Amino acid sequence: MTRVRFLAADGKPGPVVEAAAGTRLLDLAQAQGQPLEGTCEGAMACSTCHVLITGADAAKLPAPSEEEEDMLDFAVGAGRASRLACQIRLTADIAELDVRMPPGAVDMSRR
Ligand code: FES
Repeated sequence: MTRVRFLAADGKPGPVVEAAAGTRLLDLAQAQGQPLEGTCEGAMACSTCHVLITGADAAKLPAPSEEEEDMLDFAVGAGRASRLACQIRLTADIAELDVRMPPGAVDMSRR
């Protein structure tokens, strides 16, 4: 199980949830009400699943593919910590992961 801690774009703590190995980060984030549209449902054609994973947590993940990096070029506010949540599957060796929403992410459910 991986303990995932979601953070809002401004750094405010969000939900903390335990997820099984094999869980796709986008699915977990959406189930927790995070503001990720995931419009293309993982086809790497939209970048609306953009999240920020920094430092030691970033090193726990496999490096992004060239296709993922190309799509991140279209994401608003993308930087070195940017990843596509649809491309990240949790694995048993990841005990904890902090996942921050990108700048400009708006939780439409709270409007
Ligand atoms: Fe479209 Fe991830 S859901 S790129």
